[in-house]
Amino acid sequence: MDVQMYLKGRQEAIRKEAGRVKDFSVFDFSYIPTQPVMREEAKILIDAILRYDHTGIPKNLALFGSRGSGKTLMVRFLAKELHSESGVNILYCNVRNHNTSFKIVEHLLHAPARGASFTDLFAAFRAKYSGKTVVVLDEIDLMGPRDRNMEILYRLSRSRNNYMAVLLSNSPRLMQKLDVSTRSTLQPEIVHFRDYDAEQMYAILVARARSGLVRYDEGMLRKIAALAVRDTNSDVRVAIKTLFYTATETGLSVEHAFERATQDVVVDVVHDLNDKSLLILESLRRTKGGLAKEVYQTYKDLSADVGEQPFSYMHFYNNLSHLQSCGLILLMFTKVNRTYTNQIRLLFDSAIAAETFKQRFR
Ligand SMILES: Nc1ncnc2c1ncn2[C@@H]1O[C@H](COP(=O)(O)OP(=O)(O)O)[C@@H](O)[C@H]1O
Ligand SMILES: [Mg+2]
Repeated sequence: MDVQMYLKGRQEAIRKEAGRVKDFSVFDFSYIPTQPVMREEAKILIDAILRYDHTGIPKNLALFGSRGSGKTLMVRFLAKELHSESGVNILYCNVRNHNTSFKIVEHLLHAPARGASFTDLFAAFRAKYSGKTVVVLDEIDLMGPRDRNMEILYRLSRSRNNYMAVLLSNSPRLMQKLDVSTRSTLQPEIVHFRDYDAEQMYAILVARARSGLVRYDEGMLRKIAALAVRDTNSDVRVAIKTLFYTATETGLSVEHAFERATQDVVVDVVHDLNDKSLLILESLRRTKGGLAKEVYQTYKDLSADVGEQPFSYMHFYNNLSHLQSCGLILLMFTKVNRTYTNQIRLLFDSAIAAETFKQRFR
């Protein structure tokens, strides 16, 4: 086949594939559906905001749940929906992109504040947002190490403006990270966004397919929903991506599309890990058998190699549960030589860990 023939053939195929999609934006992760599928846990959030709107008395919330359990969508949807018709102003900031209190407030003020002190900055914030204001801090667990005490939370909870704070996190350990005085003034209600079941996942997929595709097959959507629930901690993103791949590529099986979608998402997750977590994954990859004690030894050696201060065994172990909640590893308690011991298994393609490690520590 010559180049021109190939080019013509592909042009035709891609045109055909694109013809099956009514609206590409529906498959974008930042897309906000006009009618998200309802979930029980969202009611607590909705009620708290409405009551705050009515009474001015804030109730702080900390929502946690696996990746892709709809936390971000729910708050963004409410922010949009309540924008014009209520007396509350919902401000959103993703800590991933603004990882200190200073940067967050600067972002919410829409103005650079070089040289100002945090106290001045917060005073400007109070002046600008003097009415009922909900401050949503997404991915709060990615707050930088320089701001461990999360001063902004302290200020928000102590302010006479009666601000309401909503914190989102993939990790249940979020609350342990807050210092005692912040926790005691914030007193957040903790809400667990449970993993979607296959029915909910299916409902979400049907809604997407309906608005995004010209045609779709319900049996296929069921299959995607079942795979996502079984193999990914119910990550809706993987399901939506799988749907997109199967819809746009001729001859691609659901299983293959799912595998590719999972890989895409894992690459993102691994990229987002901090240095210590990445060192742990790389150590796990390098330790045959995956016995926790041996992995820890590898981890200590590797940390020394790259000039990182390693965690104590206890922190190392805590971090494993974080990695497990990201769906990257499985912690098992197994019998080896007649005694029980902790064993760790990598749940994704180890080449991704190796590659990311190389990029970061090269
Ligand atoms: N209840 C829902 N209805 C419709 N789409 C949803 C729902 N929950 C999640 N999604 C979709 O799933 C994807 C992941 O949701 P997201 O809010 O980003 O999860 P999280 O913030 O918990 O990681 C997004 O594309 C979102 O639109
Ligand atoms: Mg999110």
